[in-house]
Amino acid sequence: MVSLQFSMSCLITFTFLVTLTAAQKVVHHNCSDISGSFTRNSTYNANLNRLLSTFSSNISANDYGFYNISYGQGPDAANGIALCRGDVNSDVCLRCIKNATTELRNRCSNEKEAIIWYDYCMLRYTNRSIMGVMQLGPYFVMNNTNNVMVTDGDAFNQALSALLDILISNASSGNASGKFATGTLQKIKALVQCTPDLTAIQCGSCLYHCVFSRVRKSNVKLETNHEPNEPVEDHEISSAECIQYDFSIIRDATNDFSDANKLGQGGFGAVYKGKLSSGELIAVKRIATESGQGDVEFINEVQLMAQLQHRNLVRLLGFCLEGNERLLVYEFVPNASLDQFLFDPVKCANLDWEKRYKIIAGIARGLLYLHEDSRLRIIHRNLKASNVLLDAEMNPKISDFGMARLCPLDQTQSATSRIAGTYTGYMAPEYAMQGHFSAKSDVFSYGVLVLELLSGRENNAFDNGENVEDLLSYAWRNWKDGTAMDFVDDRLKDGSKDEQMRCIHIGLLCVQEDVAQRPNMASVVVMLTSHSITLPLPSPSAIFMNNNT
Ligand SMILES: *[C@@H]1O[C@H](CO)[C@@H](O)[C@H](O)[C@H]1NC(C)=O
Ligand SMILES: *[C@@H]1O[C@H](CO)[C@@H](O)[C@H](O)[C@H]1NC(C)=O
Ligand SMILES: *[C@@H]1O[C@H](CO)[C@@H](O)[C@H](O)[C@H]1NC(C)=O
Ligand SMILES: *[C@@H]1O[C@H](CO)[C@@H](O)[C@H](O)[C@H]1NC(C)=O
Ligand SMILES: *[C@@H]1O[C@H](CO)[C@@H](O)[C@H](O)[C@H]1NC(C)=O
Ligand SMILES: *[C@@H]1O[C@H](CO)[C@@H](O)[C@H](O)[C@H]1NC(C)=O
Ligand SMILES: *[C@@H]1O[C@H](CO)[C@@H](O)[C@H](O)[C@H]1NC(C)=O
Ligand SMILES: *[C@@H]1O[C@H](CO)[C@@H](O)[C@H](O)[C@H]1NC(C)=O
Ligand SMILES: *[C@@H]1O[C@H](CO)[C@@H](O)[C@H](O)[C@H]1NC(C)=O
Ligand SMILES: *[C@@H]1O[C@H](CO)[C@@H](O)[C@H](O)[C@H]1NC(C)=O
Repeated sequence: MVSLQFSMSCLITFTFLVTLTAAQKVVHHNCSDISGSFTRNSTYNANLNRLLSTFSSNISANDYGFYNISYGQGPDAANGIALCRGDVNSDVCLRCIKNATTELRNRCSNEKEAIIWYDYCMLRYTNRSIMGVMQLGPYFVMNNTNNVMVTDGDAFNQALSALLDILISNASSGNASGKFATGTLQKIKALVQCTPDLTAIQCGSCLYHCVFSRVRKSNVKLETNHEPNEPVEDHEISSAECIQYDFSIIRDATNDFSDANKLGQGGFGAVYKGKLSSGELIAVKRIATESGQGDVEFINEVQLMAQLQHRNLVRLLGFCLEGNERLLVYEFVPNASLDQFLFDPVKCANLDWEKRYKIIAGIARGLLYLHEDSRLRIIHRNLKASNVLLDAEMNPKISDFGMARLCPLDQTQSATSRIAGTYTGYMAPEYAMQGHFSAKSDVFSYGVLVLELLSGRENNAFDNGENVEDLLSYAWRNWKDGTAMDFVDDRLKDGSKDEQMRCIHIGLLCVQEDVAQRPNMASVVVMLTSHSITLPLPSPSAIFMNNNT
């Protein structure tokens, strides 16, 4: 299994030791017209020629294999960087860069911006400023062309994630002399690298952005029992088996949707516990809302959702259609939802700091997967403590994601329900007030959750009277006054103060008023994983600002 991901500013490769190969050839190039093109007699061309000739024959080798050169000013400036893989020596590095200069010029004749990747180096030029700017595109992914037997895909993915966490943390915290790390875990060898001009957080989030192709199972069957006489079709669904259940099976499993089996009532309908005849426990969401969506669209969306698989997401197993009934069948998660522990004066004793920290980190991973890793790029829109379920080991699993795709409501309906009572203290101001949702509005909700986990208190901001401070203002005030530990739940006094301080800091960064200032989930994961990284200072949170004006 060889998989490589190269983007502008960072690269990840991983491979099984046995199939590691290295050929000194061009891997990929991209000529971009984003900054326009130039003519032969232009100033840009003169600057570019000078730049390439310097890269080709007049740079002196350094230890870290990173070179930057600029000629000219303004729109005619030619800015270039070259970066060698952290494990090649400087002779090979300089020869690779030399090759790259000629090759790139041949391949991209008149575009102002171009990039080329070799196994050992990359070279890039543009008239835009280049240093310290993290750029994710263009990027490309290479698949393994050999067959490799992986007997346990989950174990492989877990080992890979664990290895990448360490490497990303190490590479990010590298100084300007090199942001590179490589290592081996259980026969998996991986290598990560960023251009060293990036900050630690830019580097880490660039690396976490990669959509990673993981081990896939071969074709799996989708049982469509709509037409019993039709042959069962094979659908190509990577790594997911999506089952259509018979209505009678679900009805029996849930004891005819009895009240005793009811687990709760969500925005889209009631959820029931069920037990299949095999003994397997399931949770069934009985969708109450009318949707304009047809059955085929619904099935397609369910199939897509069933592909979302991550240990911090509740797994969708299948669905059921019968008349007007639309049911979604999920894995059953035994320890109910986070709010039932966190806000219960007795049960919250089960949540010591270690568990809460694990929950904070797990939700971040799950959300990162939804935002970046899943190809579908799902925005949750309703992240809150009651949508975080806890498994037998108290690992968090996010539930209720993708509902906007499974039950699309028309605009007026969703606007109405937003105003008519679904408003919660988790909603980012731009979402609550203008209906603007984005990955960053999920980040806001995540920040609120983190602050709730730290304080053991609910953020019921808008229900409170004049004297009662909302949670975000309270957190901000304590942090600003240097009394942040006063904010922390008394029951967590035994936990790591460093981790708690860092989590308050991250929580406050996530709930900032300015959407652009909030970190994305990749950055949040980096901040949680790499303790050596210095965090930016937060500006006041949205709610705090509102209270002041
Ligand atoms: C480049 O040459 C074209 C004609 O070939 C001419 O119109 C243009 O003014 C020249 N540009 C510069 C910067 O000399
Ligand atoms: C090579 O670089 C040196 C110092 O940067 C410079 O003095 C010299 O002119 C350059 N040579 C060429 C051929 O560009
Ligand atoms: C980029 O080049 C300039 C000029 O040669 C140099 O001063 C600077 O240190 C370089 N930056 C990095 C990160 O190498
Ligand atoms: C790069 O060149 C294009 C014209 O080809 C120009 O529109 C753009 O503003 C330039 N970019 C910068 C950063 O100067
Ligand atoms: C540079 O190109 C030459 C000729 O194509 C090739 O033999 C050599 O391996 C290349 N070197 C590197 C480091 O890519
Ligand atoms: C080149 O990069 C652009 C911008 O990221 C992208 O849209 C385009 O598809 C890429 N082209 C190739 C051939 O990869
Ligand atoms: C890699 O594999 C995936 C899944 O099989 C496929 O969708 C994608 O097009 C492949 N990419 C390349 C570059 O071959
Ligand atoms: C950067 O880190 C490396 C390895 O940790 C170290 O050897 C080097 O001295 C550091 N360089 C600077 C400029 O701090
Ligand atoms: C990561 O960095 C730590 C601390 O510098 C070091 O002990 C460890 O060996 C590194 N691990 C890898 C895989 O590079
Ligand atoms: C979580 O669930 C497991 C399995 O059902 C159970 O053994 C455990 O006691 C539960 N934990 C808490 C804190 O309730």
